[in-house]
Amino acid sequence: MRMRSSGMKSEQVAERMGQWLGLSSAPVEEDDGSVFVAKEEDFKDSQRIRGTVKDREVVIFHHEGQYHALDLRCYHAGGPLHLGDIEDIAGQTCVICPWHNYTIALATGEGLYQGTDPLDPLRTKKWFSKGVKQRIHKVNVKNGGVYVTLSDTSIRCDSDDYACEKLKESENTVIKP
Ligand code: FES
Repeated sequence: MRMRSSGMKSEQVAERMGQWLGLSSAPVEEDDGSVFVAKEEDFKDSQRIRGTVKDREVVIFHHEGQYHALDLRCYHAGGPLHLGDIEDIAGQTCVICPWHNYTIALATGEGLYQGTDPLDPLRTKKWFSKGVKQRIHKVNVKNGGVYVTLSDTSIRCDSDDYACEKLKESENTVIKP
């Protein structure tokens, strides 16, 4: 069962996310390796912020009191996840990529898909996991600031293919499939 919990349409989000938010100066790395990306108050309008952490594009969602940081570009073909709708699917909060509707669990980075179990005589549709496809990162809040610590990139994740700084382009110039 899919329950949409974001009241904001992609076009509205796109308008608000036309620029990097909360980054009036270059991100500064803390002693613990975390990087400040925004103030908590910056999430009030769109509940999402995109930013760059050590040359990596990330999006941070604030949903029902929880922060989730992921690689910004979808693991499938580099779609802009900061423009995706947030939905509750099979008990997990997910972002739906605006390009081809791939479904990604915010807490785990798992790619989810709907299918049927061939052994089920009723062929009831269920949600299954493809495993972790989108890299997630750690988020901490300190003194009203939201900080992101990148996960261990020595273990490959599919979204790595689209995460490096050289691929960062505006929404108008990204090559769409
Ligand atoms: S680029 Fe995200 S679903 Fe294709």
